[in-house]
Amino acid sequence: MGSKRISGFSKKTKAEKIDWLLEHYLDNDPASKQILKQYWNDDDNLQRLHDDFIENTLTNYYLPFGIAPNFLINGEIFTIPMVIEESSVVAAASNAAKFWLDRGGFKAEVVSTIKSGQVHLNYFGNEQDIKEFFAIAKPIMIEGIADIQKNMKRRGGGLLDIRLINKSEALEGYYELDCTFETLDAMGANFINSCLESLARTFENAAQNHSVFIEHNSFPEIVMSILSNYVPGCLVKAEVSCSLEMLDQPDIEGKEFADKFIRAVQIAENETKRAVTHNKGIMNGVDAVVVATGNDFRAVEAGVHAYASRDGRYSSLTHAKLEGDQFKFWIEIPLALGTVGGLTSLHPLVKLAFQILQRPNAESLMKIVAVAGLAQNFAALRSLVTTGIQKGHMKMHLMNILNQLDVSAEEKSRAVEHFKNHTVSHSAVVSFVEEHRR
Ligand code: MEV
Repeated sequence: MGSKRISGFSKKTKAEKIDWLLEHYLDNDPASKQILKQYWNDDDNLQRLHDDFIENTLTNYYLPFGIAPNFLINGEIFTIPMVIEESSVVAAASNAAKFWLDRGGFKAEVVSTIKSGQVHLNYFGNEQDIKEFFAIAKPIMIEGIADIQKNMKRRGGGLLDIRLINKSEALEGYYELDCTFETLDAMGANFINSCLESLARTFENAAQNHSVFIEHNSFPEIVMSILSNYVPGCLVKAEVSCSLEMLDQPDIEGKEFADKFIRAVQIAENETKRAVTHNKGIMNGVDAVVVATGNDFRAVEAGVHAYASRDGRYSSLTHAKLEGDQFKFWIEIPLALGTVGGLTSLHPLVKLAFQILQRPNAESLMKIVAVAGLAQNFAALRSLVTTGIQKGHMKMHLMNILNQLDVSAEEKSRAVEHFKNHTVSHSAVVSFVEEHRR
């Protein structure tokens, strides 16, 4: 253990870091070094750009960047860039997009765009005292962030409000300053956190000089200041609808399909074990676009799943119903996304993704991402209530199995042809390749 301890690692050069890793974890194997080097970009500037995204970069980690065409959203056609490793996701999205292209497409609307952050406080004194102090301090605190929010305010955003909330019933001596923000096309994490830290400093300084606190020798104390990734006030809705007749498909009638589909959604609404997988399928679409557009998928994931449990029970993010002979399927999802700042102007593929999406603002991107989630869920449920998921999934997974088996191009194309009419499984593919080689 001792020899694996190291200090000052981040100060080493990339070559020194790799040598250290090889020596301590990879048996000094030149093949391991080659794997790391093989993913370096020939363009030094591009490589440096990626090196600088994080600390201790050794190499790049590829994920496929694909596109799903034919998304008709509010009357406009989009081709959606997706970054994801799971074989069937882009195919499923494209499939759902095509299905709805002939049935009116997707409608999407942004419900609200408010984000929040909190200054978390300890205060064990009298509630009335801190309330009165907050009324005095609030305008001073807002004045204190004038510089930070100058540009954001000019564009129509900025701090919306600050409320003092007594949380001491949940946790003794716990209060918060709940601050709401409009950050327009920026995801806003840095802006919000800078505002919060400044608001907190002003609050604490003013409290030190507040006569009532001095008199009672009881001061509010800052614990921490940070934005919240719970964004129920940053909400987008997307839906599809059509008549039952339009849902008729070669192997199933519209009414039967709608009944099975709606039942599947109701199960996800009522059974957490199913809801988690149901929503995971939605996140296949959501995350793939969030990553392609350089947004923070961990923030989105955390916020979405908290929203899915907002009633105290984890439930489905999508809903479906029949209204007369109209089938309706929709999603309501909180998404804090940015189209400026962060990676959006740095990563060449992210810039390209925005170009493919016809340079959306944050609200348009929210709609596109919600639609990608809804489409993914539609494709999954459509398979689940008809053929089952494995048929399509394994078809897409065939390439991965073939690549594991190191097949030639000719073997690959023969296998693809063969498995058009045969069920794909790992053992079936191995048998096919062995047979072919014999
Ligand atoms: C797999 O990545 C996603 C699904 O499991 C989603 C679902 O079950 O709805 C197919």
